[in-house]
Amino acid sequence: MDTPFKSGLEGVIVAETEISHVDGANGQLIYRGGYHIDEVADRGYEEIVYLLLQGRLPDSAELAGTTAELTKQRELNAAALTALAGLPASADPMDALRTVLSAQGAQRNVVRPTAAEAVAVTATAATAVAAYHRHRQCLPLPDARADLGHVANFLYQLHGREPDQAQVRWLETYFVVTADHALSPSTFTAQIVGSTGSDLWSAIVAAVGALKGPAHGGATVEATRMLERVGGPEHAESFVLDLLSRRGRLMGFGHREYRRYDPRARILANVCQDANPEYHAVARAVEEVALRELARRHADRPNLTNVDYFAGGVLSGVGIPQDLFACTFAAARTVGWAAHVVEYVERRERIVSPASRWIGPNVSSAGGNGE
Ligand code: CMC
Repeated sequence: MDTPFKSGLEGVIVAETEISHVDGANGQLIYRGGYHIDEVADRGYEEIVYLLLQGRLPDSAELAGTTAELTKQRELNAAALTALAGLPASADPMDALRTVLSAQGAQRNVVRPTAAEAVAVTATAATAVAAYHRHRQCLPLPDARADLGHVANFLYQLHGREPDQAQVRWLETYFVVTADHALSPSTFTAQIVGSTGSDLWSAIVAAVGALKGPAHGGATVEATRMLERVGGPEHAESFVLDLLSRRGRLMGFGHREYRRYDPRARILANVCQDANPEYHAVARAVEEVALRELARRHADRPNLTNVDYFAGGVLSGVGIPQDLFACTFAAARTVGWAAHVVEYVERRERIVSPASRWIGPNVSSAGGNGE
């Protein structure tokens, strides 16, 4: 009998992992070592990098080592700088990011995915986003600052000024809660590439491409643009009813796995309240109507608020331009992508090579099209 076809691989388990776990029924995201996301949301990003790659939180010497390594690996190499220089100011920043990462990886030419290489690509991803933003404005990229942590340095290189401490903390929470999310579409993409024996940079470049789509990482900016169109909390009701009556999708709602509120959305909603109160007010008004209407339309499947909904408020609250939202997501998620690839390779798992069902014309077993 044929193996049943599952559209979108829904519910199909394609890997075993201890990097992170989404318990959608209970609305939990659990990071490596068994940490609920709420338990680690206030940690520094460097600690989470160590946790995802090494399996436990670092002691002070290990944290200092990871911080130093991230700092050391921030620089773009000659190949990446050349690729950057050739990019038009009109490029989609996600296209720019994958181009710069691809060039950096080409010069490094390291074949085997390792935890050390994962730190290198994580460090580079943030620099690449800042570097492209500076390049398109014809501004020089400030030298990285060894006295700043990963997230603070990202803001510093992006804006070219001393980062505000509150903004660093807000963005750090964003980086921490988006660092990994089990086998998201982009993570699975990276894992497929890694499973073929390819290198880590190729896997990350592929993952950037997968994250770009509006159903995935591109949803942050789409949710933000949607809230801008609402025009204020008083228009929430009419906006949602009108959009749903036209069978439109409410951006920042719905998830393949969560059947309870996404814990990252809860954390980022709190951050958003401080970082961007205006965004928060409109978002809450729309959310109230949206959750009511989505539940009414799909009693069997709650399409709840997801991580992307309040993320745009946090990112704009720290001064990140809208068209860099997906890139910033990518910079935060790179460590998760890399951790999954390294784990897959270290466990000597098999190449990912699924089957498809033929729906073309009948063919005879002897060959030909049977006519
Ligand atoms: N607004 C309105 N209806 C929705 C929404 C939404 N945001 N999400 C799902 N539905 C409906 C959908 O129309 C469908 O109804 P019907 O069966 O009557 O046609 C039903 O719910 C199931 O939707 P689906 O598209 O089959 O669900 P999926 O698991 O394949 O897709 C999703 C999940 C996240 C792509 C989808 O919910 C969506 O498009 N959401 C909006 C985009 C978004 O916010 N994406 C971010 C995802 S979370 C973080 C990330 O991955 O980056």
